[in-house]
Amino acid sequence: MPQILTLGSLNADLVSTTSRLPSAGETLSSTSFHTIPGGKGLNQCIATQRLSRNSPSSPSPSSITTAMIGNVGNDEFGPMLLTTLTSNGIDARGITTRPGESSGVAVIIVEEDTGMNRILVNAGANGSVEWEQGWFSKNPECKMLVAQLECPLPTVLQAIDEAVSAGVRVVFNPAPAQTLPVDVYGKVEYLIVNETEAAILTEREVAVLDDNAGIESTGRRLRDMGARNVVITLGGRGCWWVSENGEEAFQTAEKVGKVVDTTGAGDTWVGAFAVAIMEGKRMEDAVQWAGRAAGVAVTKAGAVAGIPWRGEVEKA
Ligand code: RIB
Ligand code: NA
Repeated sequence: MPQILTLGSLNADLVSTTSRLPSAGETLSSTSFHTIPGGKGLNQCIATQRLSRNSPSSPSPSSITTAMIGNVGNDEFGPMLLTTLTSNGIDARGITTRPGESSGVAVIIVEEDTGMNRILVNAGANGSVEWEQGWFSKNPECKMLVAQLECPLPTVLQAIDEAVSAGVRVVFNPAPAQTLPVDVYGKVEYLIVNETEAAILTEREVAVLDDNAGIESTGRRLRDMGARNVVITLGGRGCWWVSENGEEAFQTAEKVGKVVDTTGAGDTWVGAFAVAIMEGKRMEDAVQWAGRAAGVAVTKAGAVAGIPWRGEVEKA
């Protein structure tokens, strides 16, 4: 039973939808409001679980199990976030409830016409996540680590180091991006970034990625920095990828339906991709599968709520 472990954040997403954005100093009524589970870590973990099976209780064709390490606060959001993991069938024993801290919160404004979002995050308990030393020796079935950067960088780096020593595969989505120590790239099997993140990591202007040549040169630079395989996700345009054997290509996004809410689509992409790689798919096929999963996610509202189960993506 190969386990995919996600190390990362859990947030309560406070989502308001609007037909237009308020200007500075303006008060505007939103058209709807929901408090729902999100956070890049939780979203990606849910995606690994849902994209590997059709329901919480149905078996994964490739026997994948999923687990998460992270923190919640001891506020009203903590139990909601924990239940999101357990009710989806995910091992949540790696989640710590931090006394005296609030849960991570993301204030999200979604524009109705386009599904585009603007997000303001407060880390709360995610800011004190510590790596569970020895996880890989205690859980020898764990074969893959999925991590992002809404938790402290030293924690993530420690997890990646232990993964490498234990022969655990590393899928790293350094979002939100910050400058990373140069030696981390060589430890990453799959580096997945969007255009903004790619620009920050390579210390380039994001405008460099406006055209295909700029995307290719930035992706190749990330591979030269040491990452074995690199994906640059391009939102509605698809992605560009390069694999360790030097294959590279653009993959266009398949449009599945009307875009309702893009929140968590990138996270769906990462989780779906991790599952496909774990199942032994070639990079080309994994990228296509992940793109289709993200395509379904954008047709549904909410981060966690929008992440499809495997069967929905197979039908799409
Ligand atoms: O990637 C989407 C996520 O980013 C949201 O769920 C929100 O919590 C923010 O962390
Ligand atoms: Na969505």
